[in-house]
Amino acid sequence: MTHTSVTPAGAAQRSAPYLSNARVANGPLGRSHGRNEIVQSPRQVERTEPIRTSGSVCESLRARIYFYVQESIGCCQGLSRRQSALRGPSHPHSTTPRDPCTINLACVRPGIYLLLSAMRLLENKLGIVFGVANKRSIAWAIAQAWHKAGAKLAFTYQGERLKENVEELAGTFGADTLLMPCDVTKDEEIARVFKETGERFGKLHLMLHSVAFAPKDALEGEFVNTSREAFRIAHDISAYSLVALSRGAAPLMTEGGSIVAMTYYGSEKVVPHYNVMGVAKASLEASTRYLAYDLGPRKIRVNCISAGPVNTLAARGISGFTEMLKHYEAHSPLKRNVLPDELGATGTFLGSDGAAAITGQVLYVDSGYQIMGM
Ligand SMILES: NC(=O)c1ccc[n+]([C@@H]2O[C@H](COP(=O)([O-])OP(=O)(O)OC[C@H]3O[C@@H](n4cnc5c(N)ncnc54)[C@H](O)[C@@H]3O)[C@@H](O)[C@H]2O)c1
Repeated sequence: MTHTSVTPAGAAQRSAPYLSNARVANGPLGRSHGRNEIVQSPRQVERTEPIRTSGSVCESLRARIYFYVQESIGCCQGLSRRQSALRGPSHPHSTTPRDPCTINLACVRPGIYLLLSAMRLLENKLGIVFGVANKRSIAWAIAQAWHKAGAKLAFTYQGERLKENVEELAGTFGADTLLMPCDVTKDEEIARVFKETGERFGKLHLMLHSVAFAPKDALEGEFVNTSREAFRIAHDISAYSLVALSRGAAPLMTEGGSIVAMTYYGSEKVVPHYNVMGVAKASLEASTRYLAYDLGPRKIRVNCISAGPVNTLAARGISGFTEMLKHYEAHSPLKRNVLPDELGATGTFLGSDGAAAITGQVLYVDSGYQIMGM
């Protein structure tokens, strides 16, 4: 199991007096609080008494960060005894023998996401998500991260076949969540989506394009046999749609915005069976750069996340996909596949002010696979 030295145990302990002073913080969905205010997060209800914060808002933010770091490392270092007891000796993240100077990255990761969401990086942002098919969809992972970071979201679904799934998922963000049908090959549906979004939200800050399709027979066999029609469909749905959706979203992004699209490494290197989809992704990435240039003066940023393989509905349509997962695990520098939550965290970063000067880029979230020469 991989161990990463994130922080020496001693450092965590040296921070402890600070924690005992102002150990708390709001929960993941909590808001900032004033001086000497009693706050209690949902996790604290089962964990501790309500705790009084001391000092400024800045100090309480620091306390919040320590709270999540402590939560994260607790299962490695025995700080969260209740959790450890519940998990027992077979806890998969346990390190035997425990090394006091290292903590397990797998244990830290969930805490990092809690921390990111606690920071509410997308507070008051309004967003629209294209591409949720089911709970495994990358779009759903990013939508959840955006929601936890404070964004209010509208969703679209491809057609009646997917309506129920998306309705159920989007409904978890509130019964009044805006949900609209949108087949991205139909201009009138795109126009209706942005009209309704404008009527409900008035403006827009975020848009996720997580949509792709190619006929199945084009994802098997040889690229040289790609039919004209398969080539057209793949490019229309997987690349042109970004242009059409950005054109619809831009007039609503009156305060600037962030458009994020999903791509894959098959755009720049040959990945057997990915075929026409690789060519369509190359077009998507080039479109991202031209859109970034056009929309930059309006403070609208356009970027792609290039994800390593994730087991989703679309991915399972690519022949040899299971082999791809194994290959990444064996050959990527991090020796593992990317997790949906990690794509969510990158999506949140790209939507946030932290990425204010990043546009027209392809960001690789692939356990480092893209740097490998062999
Ligand atoms: N899963 C992976 O390994 C992986 C890796 C890198 C990039 N990606 C990209 O991520 C994005 C999301 O794919 P996913 O893996 O989450 O699979 P998914 O099947 O969950 O999502 C694909 C989405 O595209 C939508 N779609 C297809 N045709 C459409 C149309 N005509 N109109 C509207 N929507 C349409 C589907 O309804 C679905 O919601 C895609 O762009 C994909 O290429 C996926």
